[in-house]
Amino acid sequence: MTNAAIHIQDLKKTYDGGYEALKGVGFNVAEGEFFGLLGPNGAGKTTLISILSGLCRKTSGTVRILGADIDTDRRSASMNLGVVPQEIVCDPFLTVRQTLEYQSGYYGLTDNKAWIEELVERLGLSDKIDAMTRGLSGGMRRRVLIAQALVHKPPVIILDEPTAGVDVELRRQLWDFIGGLHRQGHTIILTTHYLEEAQALCSRVGVMHRGRLLALDHTDRLLSRFEHNTMAFRLPNGVLPEALAPYVLHQQGHQYTLRLTETGDLETLLTVLRTSGLTPENLTVKRASLEDAFVQLVGDKA
Ligand SMILES: Nc1ncnc2c1ncn2[C@@H]1O[C@H](COP(=O)(O)OP(=O)(O)O)[C@@H](O)[C@H]1O
Ligand SMILES: [Mg+2]
Repeated sequence: MTNAAIHIQDLKKTYDGGYEALKGVGFNVAEGEFFGLLGPNGAGKTTLISILSGLCRKTSGTVRILGADIDTDRRSASMNLGVVPQEIVCDPFLTVRQTLEYQSGYYGLTDNKAWIEELVERLGLSDKIDAMTRGLSGGMRRRVLIAQALVHKPPVIILDEPTAGVDVELRRQLWDFIGGLHRQGHTIILTTHYLEEAQALCSRVGVMHRGRLLALDHTDRLLSRFEHNTMAFRLPNGVLPEALAPYVLHQQGHQYTLRLTETGDLETLLTVLRTSGLTPENLTVKRASLEDAFVQLVGDKA
């Protein structure tokens, strides 16, 4: 049996103070997969990743990285994994080269010069290699973080919101770079707020919310569940006919939002309203965006 790149089972984390950030999360990521971990702020993504990287201690559960259990084989687990953290944390008084040399030392790699230079080159940092990180722009520092995560050539790479607050140009470069790593055989796990990004890059996604995994599926299949239009209107003087109940996405007072999945749905709905003697006000029909879909998935379980 081959090992999963990441194996997580019934992972729980309660922070000091009692907050349950992970309430029993489990999933596997196969070797070579490009996996997206999605979820709103506070879902528990960074907590999960911090447990994998050893920054944060789990309360219970099992985590294995390419077969190495983080409890019994932390060292191999760390060697197998590179994490690009969400927060930009660099020692401001080190140069880029020193940062990467110290990081190599942490993994016991004493002669890592050639790889460091290659990494720096590939990340477009060559002319900054002897600059102190405090003088670098946010985008440049993010590249240093990526280089840092890759100094020990880990087969499994996790990037925690690498493109949050990043300009379009850098975002495209990061996509290219990460895509290149994936083509070279690395397993990639990416967390992102941008659903378009997950759709473009990830073959499978998990959606987390409030410490649980709400959905886990192939990206296309997950998104196709939400490819629909919505019709919104007010019914100030009536109640929605029973026949339309299955279409309801949201209702707030007299304001209704219905889901249109098939081409004929709009006509059907309007006919039912008309024959019930109801006149919808402020009627709008629009295509659900991926954002809407996500809000809906998360909102259903709120
Ligand atoms: N060190 C901590 N102590 C207490 N609560 C924390 C700590 N770190 C994160 N949390 C809480 O855990 C929840 C999950 O946070 P986080 O893992 O950062 O989510 P995400 O990365 O999905 O936004 C949040 O409600 C957050 O406030
Ligand atoms: Mg986070």
